[in-house]
Amino acid sequence: MSSIYDAVIVGGGVIGCSIAYHLAKQNKKVILLEKGSVAGKASGAAAGMLGAQMEFTCNDPLYPLAIKSRDLFQTLSEELYRLSGIDIELIEEGIYQLAFTEDEAVLHQRRGEQDQQSGEDAYWLTASELFEREPAISKKAQGALYLPRDGQVSPKKLTEAFLKSAIALGAEVREYSEVVSFIRHDNCVRGVHTKRDAIFARNTILAGGVWSSELDPTLEMVPVKGECLSFTTNRPILKGTVKYKNCYLVPKKGNRIIVGATSIPDRFDENVSFRGLFQLMEMAKEIVPGVVDDQFEKAWTGIRPQLRKGEPYIGEHKEYEQLFIAAGHYRNGILLSPITGIMVAEEIMQKERQAFANEASN
Ligand code: FAD
Ligand code: GLY
Repeated sequence: MSSIYDAVIVGGGVIGCSIAYHLAKQNKKVILLEKGSVAGKASGAAAGMLGAQMEFTCNDPLYPLAIKSRDLFQTLSEELYRLSGIDIELIEEGIYQLAFTEDEAVLHQRRGEQDQQSGEDAYWLTASELFEREPAISKKAQGALYLPRDGQVSPKKLTEAFLKSAIALGAEVREYSEVVSFIRHDNCVRGVHTKRDAIFARNTILAGGVWSSELDPTLEMVPVKGECLSFTTNRPILKGTVKYKNCYLVPKKGNRIIVGATSIPDRFDENVSFRGLFQLMEMAKEIVPGVVDDQFEKAWTGIRPQLRKGEPYIGEHKEYEQLFIAAGHYRNGILLSPITGIMVAEEIMQKERQAFANEASN
């Protein structure tokens, strides 16, 4: 029998790696199992936007959680750098939501007012104010809602930094190690069976992205395919992230720009379609006309994990004790990764304290 861990985590995406880090920070003995390579799926394919205000309206139940998670990134980036030596490339230049029509301008201004009433920064910029800040944007734009606190990171580096920091705190990781089932004892989960062996743990955390439903069929997962492309420029052309309709341009380190993303529900295939590329290129050209002269770099796909019910599932399983689920982060797993790690670690610690108190009183 292998040694007993405090926690076994299934999945080496940003969610599993954040949980590994936050548990290791609490001195828990953690092992993370990944069937492929760490950050090899959605977490490595993401654009890395921290779009708390861009993705959620203030009436959305996830809005407070998203804001809280986004606001953790500054401290987190320093903390992860100290432990792992990895710079997660946090860029805090804001996100611009463009308006090309009068109706869009009215809508964005209203959104901005609602954000302000909730205590968040949001400013309507006229066309001339916008072009002064971001001269490369199409002169057809009528203005933009500017969300200065919505930033961005490198999603791959964030995932790797969580894991490397967890390892620095004592966590173990096994790549190319597929979990095939849970070890069940009555209504309790005691660890997992991999293709090679059994791993026993006091707590089991399922963070398998869209594949989580293979291990727990009660999770109704919808795969939502997303395609992205990137290009490089010989000079910086954007400071902030720019979004119009379903398309965004995210300026990365080294004059690289990511253009995303298509959104195709119920699709698991990881091919980049000609249709997808064409749509992204057309939209990128509409937003920043000068891109036609820049260098195409590459294109890729990721599968967003969406739960049919909509919101992510973060917490103990409804039927099985000592099994925790952290899945269904859909479009916002990078943004929500710090808060998810904290929530799962806190719930596990809280249950332990409760069990200890119960034992002491018996
Ligand atoms: P994943 O990254 O898919 O990781 C799950 C891991 O579990 C995989 O590596 C898988 O191999 C492993 N696994 C599954 N089953 C098993 C098993 N049985 N045994 C062992 N390992 C297993 N979010 C943002 O916040 N901002 C963005 O800008 C953003 N842009 C995006 C752009 C695109 C094109 C896409 C596709 C997504 C984007 N997202 C963004 C969403 C974000 O990528 C996801 O929400 C997030 O990556 C989900 O993380 P995860 O760890 O749950 O899943
Ligand atoms: N959050 C951006 C995307 O999922 O494409």
